[in-house]
Amino acid sequence: MQKVAANPNHSQWYIERFRSMAREGADLAGEARLVDALVPRGARILDAGCGSGRVGGFLAAAGHDVVGVDVDPVLIAAAEHDHPGPRWLVGDLAELDLPSRGIAEPFDIIVSAGNVMAFLAPSTRAQVLGRLCAHLSTDGRAVIGFGAGRDYEFSRFFDDAAEAGLVPDLLLSTWDLRPFTDKSDFLVALLRVA
Ligand SMILES: C[S@@+](CC[C@H](N)C(=O)[O-])C[C@H]1O[C@@H](n2cnc3c(N)ncnc32)[C@H](O)[C@@H]1O
Repeated sequence: MQKVAANPNHSQWYIERFRSMAREGADLAGEARLVDALVPRGARILDAGCGSGRVGGFLAAAGHDVVGVDVDPVLIAAAEHDHPGPRWLVGDLAELDLPSRGIAEPFDIIVSAGNVMAFLAPSTRAQVLGRLCAHLSTDGRAVIGFGAGRDYEFSRFFDDAAEAGLVPDLLLSTWDLRPFTDKSDFLVALLRVA
C-alpha cells in the first residue's frame, strides 16, 4: 500500500497490464497449472496476495474451492469483475484470520505467486508465513514463488519459514519444475507444516 500511496494509479496500471496481456493471449496461468497438478479435484486453495486474480481465477475455473486475499481493495474489485466465482477478500496477510470471517476449513494448498513475499513489509514476513501456516491443513502445502535481488535473501526466507513452522518439501527454480540450485535467481518453494 506504500507503493499505491506513492502512485495512486499503480493498481489500475497493474490491472490493465494483466488485462492487456490476457487479450493478447499471453500465458498467465503457469503458476496455477503447477498448483492444479498438486491437488485432487475440488481442493481448497488460498491465493495469498491474489492481486487481480489471475492465479485463483484459473484454479476456480478448474473446479477448485478458491479464496483469494489481497490488501489492495482496487485489485480485489478487479478480481471480482474479471474472475467471478472465488471468494475474493480484502485483508492483510500479516493479520490473516479467515475463521473470524466465517472460513473455518484449513486449506489443501496456499499459493503465493508473483513475488508477493518481496512486496510485504519486511518486518511482517515471518508473521505472514506464520499466518499462512496456521491456515494450512496438516498435510497441506504452501507454494511460494519470488525472485532474487528483491531484498529478501532466499536463506533468510527459509529461516523465516522455519520459524513460522514451515519446512521445504520440494525446491524449484521455475514454475515449470526446473530444479533449484545455489545459482538459481528464482525460487518456487513447496513448504509443508513441520
Ligand atoms: C506483484 S502482485 C502479485 C499478484 C498475484 N499473486 C499475481 O501473481 O498475479 C503482489 C501482490 O501482493 C499484495 N500484497 C502485498 N502485501 C500484502 C499484504 N500484507 N497482505 C495482502 N496482500 C499483500 C499486493 O497488494 C499485490 O497485489
